[in-house]
Amino acid sequence: MKVRIWDLPTRLFHWLLAAAVLGLFVSGKVGGNAMVWHFRFGYAVLALLLFRVLWGLVGGRWSRFSSFSLGPAAIWAYLRGRAGLLQTVGHNPLGSLSVLALLALLGAQVGSGLFADDEIFNAGPLAPLVASETSQRLTAWHTGPGELLVMGWIALHVAAILFHRLHAGRNLLGPMLRGDKELAPEEARQVPASADTPATRALALLLLAASAGAVMWLVRLGS
Ligand code: HEM
Ligand code: HEM
Repeated sequence: MKVRIWDLPTRLFHWLLAAAVLGLFVSGKVGGNAMVWHFRFGYAVLALLLFRVLWGLVGGRWSRFSSFSLGPAAIWAYLRGRAGLLQTVGHNPLGSLSVLALLALLGAQVGSGLFADDEIFNAGPLAPLVASETSQRLTAWHTGPGELLVMGWIALHVAAILFHRLHAGRNLLGPMLRGDKELAPEEARQVPASADTPATRALALLLLAASAGAVMWLVRLGS
């Protein structure tokens, strides 16, 4: 039986985020005129991250942070193969931790980008608000460890999805594309579905618009 796990807003969030981060990597490396797009993609990622935090509070059952099973006991049980269905049908305990870490790393990358300054052509919109020494330190993070951590974590993320597929025979990609997981009837009875209706999708759109508005406001603070 099919059970909705990832609502449409979460899936769109995921694939838009992945596309924007790819765009950021490419535009950052190309530099020059491509930096206009680096900034645009950066604002898009910030809006998506703000949206995801809000969606983590009010979104579908399995997108809520309260449904993430975190904590050493849950992770230990998972690693020993003893986690229950309700701990693994959404993000599993290790996955939950990894998702939160990735969101935090992306937040730090966007945050440092806003204050970054290459001292020739490109300066983040909030760079004028801080001392040049602070901006230099944040630029060093952005182009050094920050970039490495974000890219490394994403590589790990994709490797973990592949590992689940190849070694454990679990298809995590399908649900992130189509939303549903296929469960045995007795399992499906135990798993509450994520709400994914026109009303919840309209709410998501409203929250995304509010997040985009907040980004526009923030970006103008420096000018
Ligand atoms: C720049 C690239 C990417 C970023 C930044 C990224 C980020 C994320 C984030 C933040 C989540 C958590 C979703 C949520 O709860 O909101 C997630 C989950 C997921 N991602 Fe990605 N992702 C990227 C690329 C990919 C790619 C290329 C694939 C395909 C292989 C993929 C497959 C998945 C799957 C299947 C999940 C759900 C995992 C689970 O069932 O627990 N991601 N990703
Ligand atoms: C997830 C988000 C982001 C990622 C992954 C990212 C990635 C990158 C990369 C790969 C570079 C090139 C580093 C190098 O030269 O090797 C770069 C440079 C830069 N980024 Fe970002 N970036 C992000 C967000 C932002 C944002 C939001 C802004 C500003 C609004 C920004 C502003 C800059 C600036 C000004 C530089 C040039 C720094 C320099 O060359 O000294 N970035 N970024």
